Amino acid sequence: MAFLAMDDSFIAGLPKAELHMHLEGSFEPEQMFAVARRNKADIPFASAEDVRRAYRFSNLQDFLDIYYRSADVLRVEEDFYDLALAYLKRAADDNVRHAEIFFDPQTHTARGVAFATVADGILHALKDGEARFAITSKLILCFLRHLSEAEAFATLKQAEPYFDRIAGVGLDSSELGHPPSKFARVFAAARSHGLKLVAHAGEEGPASYVWEALDLLHVDRIDHGNRSLDDPRLVARLVAGQMTLTVCPLSNLKLCVVKDLKDHPLKRMLDLGLRATVNSDDPAYFGGHVNANFAAVAQALALGKSDLATLAKNSFLGSFLGDAEKARHLAAVEAYAAAPGTNRIRREP
Ligand code: HPA
Ligand code: ZN
Repeated sequence: MAFLAMDDSFIAGLPKAELHMHLEGSFEPEQMFAVARRNKADIPFASAEDVRRAYRFSNLQDFLDIYYRSADVLRVEEDFYDLALAYLKRAADDNVRHAEIFFDPQTHTARGVAFATVADGILHALKDGEARFAITSKLILCFLRHLSEAEAFATLKQAEPYFDRIAGVGLDSSELGHPPSKFARVFAAARSHGLKLVAHAGEEGPASYVWEALDLLHVDRIDHGNRSLDDPRLVARLVAGQMTLTVCPLSNLKLCVVKDLKDHPLKRMLDLGLRATVNSDDPAYFGGHVNANFAAVAQALALGKSDLATLAKNSFLGSFLGDAEKARHLAAVEAYAAAPGTNRIRREP
């Protein structure tokens, strides 16, 4: 049946922030081969097409297994620089004006790559990316939750010289069996250093993990948060606190968190008054960058111009930018949404 969907050109021109993107998840197969050649590192695939064919996941762990293996070819500062610069260039093409980028230092330090090699390469690219592509950014260090609290503390210690250049800490990797409570003391230490706090919760894990992220970790944002909708009391709490949820539709589809995008909770989240945002999570693995995520949910959930503008405004409101920068970006979204010629609709077959 035909239905109306926003023209993708409205999405393309919409100023937006991306708040949930793992740098290692932006590693495109072609770049992976180029870096592997440079480092004389082995890849267990014959070609980029072969790599893409392997990207069929039935859950989060399926994906993580291949994601950590691919990161193995990243060895020297230039590799991390190239990875971050390529993401910023691609994000700027999607009219991302500001990106808050996750990186997983433990994936690299466990292989003998120094924390400084990773952080220096990324930070250098963030600086160059701002000058070259007019995109601002902040860096968020994620702890791997399948590893121990002691290993997270050791990573926080390694990050100490970078506290002035790292905006915050996050929590990612295998969610089930690794509740936020496991990292309450590490997050308290990070907070005492003035770092912002985010955590993946309620992607595969239950609503109780979202409660823990709020009450035990004292997070500033929830990454994913889909399962919050199982608990009306939690929804009320998230709405009352205007807690940002960094939602990742194509990731949810690829990792079987939803069976079909038509079942995706994003529209329900907006209608409940939750501060939801749209993000790509791991764009090289899940079939697209942020605009592809916007376009896919806009079509599947018949989102209108005002929903899309709300999502873009939420991305800036939920960012760690200062008030003046937020106000400037919010005004740009409003001016864009109000401009004539951004209101076209097309009929889908
Ligand atoms: N969930 C948990 N850990 C991750 C993800 C994710 O979606 N992407 C990269 N690391
Ligand atoms: Zn994620």
